[in-house]
Amino acid sequence: MIEPASFSDQLLAFYDEHARALPFRIRPHPYYTWISEIMLQQTRMETVLPYFERFIQAIPDVPALASVSEEQLLKLWEGLGYYSRARNLQQAARRMMSDHGGELPDTVEELLKLPGIGPYTAGAIASIAFHRVVPAVDGNVIRVFSRLMAYGGPVMSAPGKRYITEAVQSVMSKERPGDFNQAVMELGATICLPNGAPLCQACPVREHCLAFSEGNPLAYPVLPAKKERRIEQHTVFLILQGNRFAIERRPRRGLLAGLHQFPMRPGDLTRAEVSDLLADLGFTEARIEDGPGARHIFSHVEWQMSSYIIRVSTDRIAESGFEWEDQTALSDLTLPTAFAVFRREMEKLMGEA
Ligand code: ADE
Repeated sequence: MIEPASFSDQLLAFYDEHARALPFRIRPHPYYTWISEIMLQQTRMETVLPYFERFIQAIPDVPALASVSEEQLLKLWEGLGYYSRARNLQQAARRMMSDHGGELPDTVEELLKLPGIGPYTAGAIASIAFHRVVPAVDGNVIRVFSRLMAYGGPVMSAPGKRYITEAVQSVMSKERPGDFNQAVMELGATICLPNGAPLCQACPVREHCLAFSEGNPLAYPVLPAKKERRIEQHTVFLILQGNRFAIERRPRRGLLAGLHQFPMRPGDLTRAEVSDLLADLGFTEARIEDGPGARHIFSHVEWQMSSYIIRVSTDRIAESGFEWEDQTALSDLTLPTAFAVFRREMEKLMGEA
């Protein structure tokens, strides 16, 4: 059993000595806590830090976020992935303007009503920014606590999560709840590591850890079997007409919803198939060459992409259904990282044009 007072003291002493000096810790502010927690939902700390700095420079507070153009917002998010997070941020900011006087609400209940904020994020914001004594259970916390308690149940199930959450609630510091939650995350990120050996000898709370005393920390947590990633083939069209190139928007729902892409169709299309498709679009005179290939891994799908470089003449481009952009758009448009190879290729082709 974890002894709450000494556990909490040891953990906070570790945090005071070893906490990384992160920008949203050095300058604590509810808005910064919120933005950083949303960015960190699916993305590693090293990746997030430069994005965070740029984001709060450009959009320093809730009113600015509520009114920024979607174009600028997505551009600031470009490369972070899971773009619905950015759109949800703006929806939530608008709600804060209309219902909360332009500020973040300060309770878990109110935070949970906002788009993009689930139990973990509501707990993190309420404890870190508003000093509420509430748990914030993310993957790190699940790993740390399932080891501490040698909990062999399925941690991702509703009862498993409830069990872990209640354990955190019962031992967390009432004086420094935000620091306590961040200390557990810090322990999970730097000591109580996933995949491979945790650094138990450096752990400040190992005397409380049942998995350590049993000698089998790697047996926890018990996670569901990983699903295989589906593989999809796609063909990307790098279509040039003079000094312009074609782009299209993705469907409004699903993966990379509503973002731009080079025109792309399912399947690994042959040159003849591409030629037919272009003829259907009205491009009878097209020169087609092989372009580069690329691969991109999302959480549930892997895209394997081939491409063709296609030069078309002026006729029919208006009816093609594509948007036509010049070279400046290559840096201005938000193009997901999946298309980085093709963006570079297009930059090269436009440079030669
Ligand atoms: N991961 C998500 N939020 C974090 C925080 N505040 N500190 C450390 N790791 C985190």
